[in-house]
Amino acid sequence: MKRERWKSQLGFLLAAVGSAIGLGNIWRFSYMAYENGGGAFLIPYMTALLTAGIPLLILEFGIGHERMGSAPLAYAKIKKNWEWLGWWAVTLVMFGIVLYYMVVIAWCLNFFVLSFHLGWGDDPNAYFFKDFLSVSKAPSEIGQIRTPIFAALVIIWFLNWFIVYRGVQKGIELANKIFMPLLFFLTGVLVFWSLTLDGAMVGIRAYLTPDFSKLSNPKVWIDAYSQIFFTLSLGFGIMIAYASYLPAKANISRNAILTGVINSGYSLFAGLAVFSVLGFMATSHGKPVSEIVSQSIGLAFVAYPKAVSLIPGGNLFGAIFFLCLVVAGLSSSISIIEAFTSAMVDKFGLRRKPLITVVSILGFLGSIIFTTQAGLLWLDIVDHFLTHYGLVVVGILECILVGWCFRLKVLRNHINRISSVKLGVWWDLLIKYFVPLVLGIILLVDLCNELRKPYGGYSWASLILIGRDWLLLTLIAAFMIASRPWKTDNHKAGGRSRD
Ligand code: ALA
Repeated sequence: MKRERWKSQLGFLLAAVGSAIGLGNIWRFSYMAYENGGGAFLIPYMTALLTAGIPLLILEFGIGHERMGSAPLAYAKIKKNWEWLGWWAVTLVMFGIVLYYMVVIAWCLNFFVLSFHLGWGDDPNAYFFKDFLSVSKAPSEIGQIRTPIFAALVIIWFLNWFIVYRGVQKGIELANKIFMPLLFFLTGVLVFWSLTLDGAMVGIRAYLTPDFSKLSNPKVWIDAYSQIFFTLSLGFGIMIAYASYLPAKANISRNAILTGVINSGYSLFAGLAVFSVLGFMATSHGKPVSEIVSQSIGLAFVAYPKAVSLIPGGNLFGAIFFLCLVVAGLSSSISIIEAFTSAMVDKFGLRRKPLITVVSILGFLGSIIFTTQAGLLWLDIVDHFLTHYGLVVVGILECILVGWCFRLKVLRNHINRISSVKLGVWWDLLIKYFVPLVLGIILLVDLCNELRKPYGGYSWASLILIGRDWLLLTLIAAFMIASRPWKTDNHKAGGRSRD
């Protein structure tokens, strides 16, 4: 079967940037920066970008390109019995992360519509938690499906299906060629508008004033590395599949550096809009900025609507903000569906279009649990387990597999032959020692904290049944799929290297 191809390298770059820039960049990054020492957070954040983010991105692009396959195929071609790792990456994302990710995009779509008539009323906090989500008391109290969220979810899944169904060139590439410029333009409008608000500078100061004392706290470093990991879609299997659609000559390292820099640049830029608005809120309420932000979810769906109600012409401001979130979210969610689809096509030779329809329907059904009254609680638990334990473990194993079970020099030579930015031995050292060590420490610290104090104050039963077991199920599914025989000859073909 002929492998799909990007029309141009620019199309590939936009798609990779589209996957990286997502819901996480607009509000999660700003909140993290704010909580972890303002401007000083940029030091661990940049360190994480340079020492783990970009090197791993080069690795994922390189492996996908050199082995010419989605994550499971690429790993199987490195070492046959490691195929499961690729399946784990794509199933944990497709039947975990993307299920609630779609629901958060559905919330954004609802809030986009609400912006036009300030539908959250005078108390956005009560509106969001009580009227909109109607959050139940415990994860076991599922309650009812929230109709507006469900309706928006149908639209969001349909859009995803529609884009991915049209294929790599006519679907994903074209969508990103529209989404990315649109997102950059809308974010630009938002930033410049928010900088003109009264008190904007108060917020910017809170954002950028460094509090160096925080740098001695390990949590700041852990947050920086986890943020980089999630924001660059590392360990999702996406970047491997995307790079497998590149032609033989492709500037791997330059594209990885550009993706990393554009993604983080976007986060920094969008942070200006978020903090100007917080400064505006703080000034109009006569409170310090530290009292405006309660928690990360509240920042986008509570603090922002509050501000939108106060800003002259706020309806449009709110609509632009939530549209940005929808567009950023969509360009990431399509990449997740593609990573899984690509893996199934590689292994079972299935026809792409019917497969995408089935995967989208299954995904939609799986998302429904997150539209119930217990949805927010489930989302919180599943997200914590899948991103902290799933993605990070995939990242560590990826480094071990490629660094220790494969001749890393072969991959480096392959990348250097076709890329303009040449990699040195430093890259091998980062992949073999530094990244797995740092990620390993993050994981252990997280685990120790967790065992001392149950995450989010949930009951152990909820954490085990929803979080741990969800993660385990994706792992079991990965092993099961990996144990099935190949229906194609793809795994028999070699790589692109000449070494
Ligand atoms: N990289 C995507 C995000 O930041 C998943 O949301």
